[in-house]
Amino acid sequence: MSRSNPPRHRRGRRPALYAGALVSAVALTAGTLSFASADEGPVTFERVDNPYQGAGVYVNPDWSANAEASGGSAIADQPTAVWLDRIEAITGGSAGNSTGLEEHLQRAVEQANGEPYVFQMVTYNLPGRDCSALASNGQLGPEEIDRYKTEFIDPIAEIVGEYATANPNLRIVNIVEIDSLPNLVTNVGSRETATPECDVMLANGNYQEGVSYNVGTLGEYENVYNYLDAGHWGWLGWDSNFQPAADLFNEVINTAPSSPDKVAGVAVNVANYGALDEPNFEITETIAGTPVRQSEWIDWNQYEDNTDFGLDFAAAVDGNHGLIIDTSRNGWGPELPGPGPETSVDEYVNEGRVDQRFQTGNWCNQSGAGLGERPQAAPASGIDAYAWIKPPGESDGASEEIPNDEGKGFDRMCDPTYEGNPRNNYNMSGALGDAPLSGHWFDAQFQELMANAYPPL
Ligand code: BGC
Repeated sequence: MSRSNPPRHRRGRRPALYAGALVSAVALTAGTLSFASADEGPVTFERVDNPYQGAGVYVNPDWSANAEASGGSAIADQPTAVWLDRIEAITGGSAGNSTGLEEHLQRAVEQANGEPYVFQMVTYNLPGRDCSALASNGQLGPEEIDRYKTEFIDPIAEIVGEYATANPNLRIVNIVEIDSLPNLVTNVGSRETATPECDVMLANGNYQEGVSYNVGTLGEYENVYNYLDAGHWGWLGWDSNFQPAADLFNEVINTAPSSPDKVAGVAVNVANYGALDEPNFEITETIAGTPVRQSEWIDWNQYEDNTDFGLDFAAAVDGNHGLIIDTSRNGWGPELPGPGPETSVDEYVNEGRVDQRFQTGNWCNQSGAGLGERPQAAPASGIDAYAWIKPPGESDGASEEIPNDEGKGFDRMCDPTYEGNPRNNYNMSGALGDAPLSGHWFDAQFQELMANAYPPL
């Protein structure tokens, strides 16, 4: 594909014929837009409310091959997201994949075969990335915002723009910078959970600037759908976190070049293990005289799972209120527990809960986890999709120090012998042993995820 054709779908650069279309696109109602292109005749383009609705989703052949080789033929044809986790991933693939973005998009066009088709990518390379942990520290130092823009986002925008423009049937879902804004809410300042690295990122503003630039630049294309990562219920679900987070999101969303019309919604539980639904208890119940909210597991949170949290958070954020829930590893099967005994609130919650972690702050290669709901469009009211954003089988982090040239550190939350820190309230990490670097294939975890899948395979 030649790069010389100027993009023809860019917001603000539309031919006159496009003017009316802008109104419907901004209102985010479905509608078919047409305009003339000099060399290719009329191109039909559609901005929709939910990009997954009525569309196929890209199956990443690199992930499929790994899954297949690990005995996962039952799921190897499932769609998973492509992670752009460093500058080199744009041309040469990321830790888990060997394919560059342009080739992925080319394959997506082939898979689409002219039908509406979603390509899911994660942009994950902010300066000072992963400020509250070490396992996914990245390649850019805290001050390298200019490199983020010119060496990461701009080249992605060039490639994405070319494909988005030439293939109106392609719907590019961009999951924006995992954990970044949530870290600026909970892991800063005088909080016990603060880290010096997150304080630096809050103060220098480079997460906010980077996210705004990402959303604004990629959002120039009408068929790019930006979803901002919003952590999960066990992170932002507390009163002290929810509204401050929503305020921060809205500040960033409304800072140019970002704007609300460039936001399709939020993504929750990305690469996390939190339950979609806890069927056996409600936050409003009182058991043996104690509210469920005061159980050790819930610890005064306003939520108990990602469905309610995700819907409320999506509603609180400016832009369209779409919601993606990552269900790649929150299955916790193969069987679900029944209701716990009503002898005490902790027994009731702990024996009835689906999520088997020691604590909701645990995030690394969780022992006992299974594949969650298979990817599906519009599974419930207000939810755009259940999606496998974290490709199952790719590690969250090494369980011991492994020298590497990916900028990744050793985080003891990935060490099964670790007894925790304030961010998991000093619980055991619950991580599997013998884990490779984050993003690298972890066969033993993949086996567990299949064995514990819920719904079962
Ligand atoms: C890693 C990335 C990887 C992604 C998907 C992250 O934890 O840091 O390198 O691409 O997971 O597996």
